Amino acid sequence: MTRRLVTSALPYANGDIHLGHLVEHLATDFWARFQKMRGHQCLTICADDTHGAPIMVAARKKGIAPEELIARTLQQHTKDFVDFQIHYDHYSTTHSETNRALCSHFYKKLKEGGHIFKRAVDQHYCETDKIFLPDRFVKGTCPRCGVENQYGDSCEACSAVYHSTELREPRCSICDSTPVVRASEQFFVKLEDFRPFLSEWVPQHTSAAVANKLQEWLSEELKDWCFTRDAPYFGFELPDAKGKYYYVWFDAPIGYVSSTKEWCEQRGLNFKDFWQNPEIEIHHNIGKDIVYFHTLFWPAMLKSAGFSTPTSIWVHGMLTVNGEKLSKSKGTFINARTYLNHLAPEYLRYYLACKLNQGVGDIDFNFEDFVGRVNSDLIGKITNIASRSAQMLHKQLEGRLAHLPARGEGAELIKKAHHESEGIAQLYEERNFAKALLSIRSLADLANKYFDDHKPWILVKEDKEKTREILTVALNLFRIVAVYLAPILPRYAEKVAQLFKEEPYTWESSQHAVENGELNPFSHLLSRLDPKAVEAIVEETKELQQKTS
Ligand code: MSP
Ligand code: ZN
Repeated sequence: MTRRLVTSALPYANGDIHLGHLVEHLATDFWARFQKMRGHQCLTICADDTHGAPIMVAARKKGIAPEELIARTLQQHTKDFVDFQIHYDHYSTTHSETNRALCSHFYKKLKEGGHIFKRAVDQHYCETDKIFLPDRFVKGTCPRCGVENQYGDSCEACSAVYHSTELREPRCSICDSTPVVRASEQFFVKLEDFRPFLSEWVPQHTSAAVANKLQEWLSEELKDWCFTRDAPYFGFELPDAKGKYYYVWFDAPIGYVSSTKEWCEQRGLNFKDFWQNPEIEIHHNIGKDIVYFHTLFWPAMLKSAGFSTPTSIWVHGMLTVNGEKLSKSKGTFINARTYLNHLAPEYLRYYLACKLNQGVGDIDFNFEDFVGRVNSDLIGKITNIASRSAQMLHKQLEGRLAHLPARGEGAELIKKAHHESEGIAQLYEERNFAKALLSIRSLADLANKYFDDHKPWILVKEDKEKTREILTVALNLFRIVAVYLAPILPRYAEKVAQLFKEEPYTWESSQHAVENGELNPFSHLLSRLDPKAVEAIVEETKELQQKTS
């Protein structure tokens, strides 16, 4: 048995879970469920990322306290995950006393190591809103190309990267007034101190594609990292510097540790058994937009604090819809909840699994392809084997299975299905869900061909016992397919186990067969996907957008 801990990036608490987020949470869930089915310990950890200026501003807009906002969001996020059959062993919040205490620990260690210094920085301050404006809250004219309406960190027109105080004609994006520039002292981490360590660490714990990209950064001196912000700020105040708060990206990854710690404390365990134990594998699943934080700052922080550094950082690409970025106006910025109002989670779980390999390329959710694949593969190819065979067995053959044939075509097919187990397991292990599904689907193809070749609907009129055998072979092939699908479709697989009067499946269940007994009544597994539901989702997304803008 291996012992693993796997995390998804912590979603911000100022917005709903959307389909883009789900890419990551589903991949984590598929992998962890697979590990558990194989008998490994695999702890799944996540939390809401609750601090920072945008959350403070969002709460003000709603006229509520940030604590209230993040409490509401936490409830919604957890419910979205549960309803998508995404299981976290512990889903917490970064706004906890456990996290605050751990932040102090990391801060203290960085300080003791001599990696922290102070320096004055110029920042925009809005006198109307009375806050220091984060870069994304300042708009103005690009100092390089002169294009208007650019954010305070970079220009979308000419890709220039600058400091927000360099913007011409700056405006506060909340109230549109002109901010003033104020100098204030901030704390920095000398990231450069960690460059020798990181240069060695990065290629060993990230994919080649990611490591190559990072090599560009690591080949030059690393920039100091400003990890504090001034009051008012929603976050944790530094223990020894009044009015200075940890920047949200300082306390957010520490949330991985504090969430684990809470889980441990609820069970009388010590979290150091996870975060200071070389026998534990730690995997972070993240999107490619947050690679810098996870592969440079985070390992440096862990190392300095004396914790284990991650075994691997898995990086996935961004979800697009019909080939384009998620768009609010086009109704493709779809919330998890909006989707669930119209469709079963299984369709999306299956579809995204078809798209997920270990690559960092974008993942396209194409509506036509979605409806097509679900209906032709998941329903037409896979689910239909069960519904046709089980219903016929019940209607015409008292619902009783035959003995499986000891040799011949049926026996060979079942043997082949058993033998696929390790190959498919390997693909799950590598998180190549797309390829695992290819192998699984080709087993379903064999089952369908077998069924069609033997025409049980005709045979039943002449030879009931032979028909019973054919249906028993088809149902066993289906059953094995369902075991292999279980990490992706857990509830579906549970229903299949009930049909065969079995306990929930483990990976080992794929090596058994069910024969000579009665089936439970067939309960409906999954219906065809109605394309109208997809249109309804887009419509509802547009309406929601109009209401909130
Ligand atoms: N709060 C930070 C993460 C802190 S982790 C210590 C954050 N939050 S986020 O809500 O913006 O994003 C959370 C995760 O969702 C990130 O891994 C991000 O890459 C992922 N995604 C957000 N939009 C996405 C898509 N459109 N497609 C795929 N993943 C997306 O970043
Ligand atoms: Zn303002």
